[in-house]
Amino acid sequence: MTGHILRGRLLTFHAEPQGPEDSGAYSYIEDGALVIAGGMIRAAGAYADIAAKAPGLPVTDHRPHLMMAGFIDPHIHFPQVQVIASWGAQLLDWLNTYTFPEETRFADPAHAARMAALFLGQLTAHGTTTAVAYASVHPASAEALFAEAARRDMRMIAGKVMMDRNAPDGLRDTAQTGYDDSKALIARWHGKGRALYAITPRFAITSTPEQLEMAGALVAEHPDCYLQTHLSENHDEIALTARLYPDAPDYLGVYERYGLLSPRALMGHCLHLSPREIGVMAETGARAVFCPTSNLFLGSGLFDDAGLRARGTVNAIATDVGGGTSYSMLQTLNEGYKLLQLQGQRLHPLRAFHWITRGNAVALGLEDRIGTLVAGSEADIVVLDARATPAMGLRMERAETLPEELFILQIMGDDRAVVQTYVAGVPQKSVVVSTT
Ligand code: GUN
Ligand code: ZN
Repeated sequence: MTGHILRGRLLTFHAEPQGPEDSGAYSYIEDGALVIAGGMIRAAGAYADIAAKAPGLPVTDHRPHLMMAGFIDPHIHFPQVQVIASWGAQLLDWLNTYTFPEETRFADPAHAARMAALFLGQLTAHGTTTAVAYASVHPASAEALFAEAARRDMRMIAGKVMMDRNAPDGLRDTAQTGYDDSKALIARWHGKGRALYAITPRFAITSTPEQLEMAGALVAEHPDCYLQTHLSENHDEIALTARLYPDAPDYLGVYERYGLLSPRALMGHCLHLSPREIGVMAETGARAVFCPTSNLFLGSGLFDDAGLRARGTVNAIATDVGGGTSYSMLQTLNEGYKLLQLQGQRLHPLRAFHWITRGNAVALGLEDRIGTLVAGSEADIVVLDARATPAMGLRMERAETLPEELFILQIMGDDRAVVQTYVAGVPQKSVVVSTT
């Protein structure tokens, strides 16, 4: 066997844990190992078995740290790396005051290229190996993001935002150019290497009916592409949408009317849905994406995870940087835990870590490729240290079980807990290697 061995405490999920005692949902190997070659996981198991089958391979020893599938962030805005932490506004004012002016800067390909490298650097520093990203309206911004992700062999799902009204000069396309530019980007990037395209009408407020019609045409012409947009985040947004689309039964009815809904549709936020809208989400399979730090930061509202799931939706969890305030999926789980507590819902650490790995992969229909550490998966891996800070180390002195350790990471962890991130088998931080 050729390749490279990673040794450490191995945790991977096979199914969503149904409760704290559901040990059948995951595999945990105290002294585990992965064989990595050609960007893929070739074997996974106990270190003794792997080392016997693959003698002489170089070994990176990550013990006593935890090796897990790389995190997946299914809703993030690439042109908002310098919008994060902008003060004092809720959604529509925040967009107009901070976000739209900043996104106009991405018309400049040099700026977009510089930001793409810094953006992907932030993702991997925080343990995120796949993102579903909004670029700006400018095709050059999506081009820059895809090109930089390809350079790193990073699985990236992204799209140029389509927006043809209610936005400043320099940040609008037209129904026709939005269609043409998206189509050209799909031809250039969808399925190339690890890239996949997401058709990206920003939200109903910034798209005319003509543009949503064109987005629907793109979805029909490219059913294997994703569709991403925002839905029911903020009360003023919902009221303005109702004024702009007076014939729609409700907010989701707008997207439904233009044929945008399917299991490949990722609907950011979903905070204030009516029973009818929830029913349509479940029937069409459209995914609801929970963005905890953003929902708190913009004062948007509470995501009813249990209520939606009980009606049959598939829910993902994401950062929504720069409405979101951290690139860390661990911090996203931390704030998500608290938002669910406010509603009497409890996010168990086993479910939490399943959610940011295999769970988000399932929401994307990619669980055969990413989100787990089984042989045949792509070699996107995060290595975590639950003693990364003195406060975490102190707390860990009293942790006796794997779920307790995971919960400490879930609540106290951030990029400091990320010892290493592998993208397609390549470490993103410098490493020391020994031999078996
Ligand atoms: N709705 C439309 N655009 C955006 C955005 O950039 N961020 C968030 N949080 N909501 C939006
Ligand atoms: Zn968003």
